Amino acid sequence: MKAQGGIAIRKVAKEDGEWKTRFRAFYADCGIKPVDGLDHAYFAAYADDEIAGHSVIYLEGGRWVLDGLRVKPEYRERGIAKGLTEARIRYALERGAKEVWYSCEDGNLVTICCHVRYGFKKVCPDSHRCTAATAHWYRLKVTPSLFKKFPGLKPGRHSTP
Ligand SMILES: CC(C)(COP(=O)(O)OP(=O)(O)OC[C@H]1O[C@@H](n2cnc3c(N)ncnc32)[C@H](O)[C@@H]1OP(=O)(O)O)[C@@H](O)C(=O)NCCC(=O)NCCS
Repeated sequence: MKAQGGIAIRKVAKEDGEWKTRFRAFYADCGIKPVDGLDHAYFAAYADDEIAGHSVIYLEGGRWVLDGLRVKPEYRERGIAKGLTEARIRYALERGAKEVWYSCEDGNLVTICCHVRYGFKKVCPDSHRCTAATAHWYRLKVTPSLFKKFPGLKPGRHSTP
């Protein structure tokens, strides 16, 4: 998949030592949830060999969760975050996801940029008490109409996790 300007978006095929070093540097100032023990996939946006954007999707407690969406400042507003989100939702749909989740604070650009367009709705699980200071959970229910945004995928043709 391509975002604007020759940026290539793809799943990280090999979580090898070289990638780990670049991954740690990419998130050095903000951190990211470790997902080593979970079913997961990292998606990166590459400008030639440079990592311009990065993100992850993981399966926890039967839930596919999007996390770690970040684009380097010099590559922003070129559709990279949108491309990374589309690729991760597609990945979940291919695996039979019935719902996709993410969490973030109110007003976060991540929500504005990439999730509302797919139909994510703010919900908070029973165990979570929302306050202005906490992050909120958002859920996308997978419906047949969502598949119209993902050419090549059809409802019911894919495996359940
Ligand atoms: C939020 C973020 C991921 C957006 O990345 P991006 O690649 O610039 O986003 P895109 O170019 O894909 O933009 C998608 C949409 O958001 C909108 N958007 C992007 N940046 C915007 C901004 N600064 N203001 C308003 N709208 C914005 C775009 O207009 C676009 O909408 P459109 O297609 O309807 O025109 C990026 O700004 C970022 O990484 N921010 C820091 C996040 C971070 O570091 N968090 C810590 C986690 S470790």
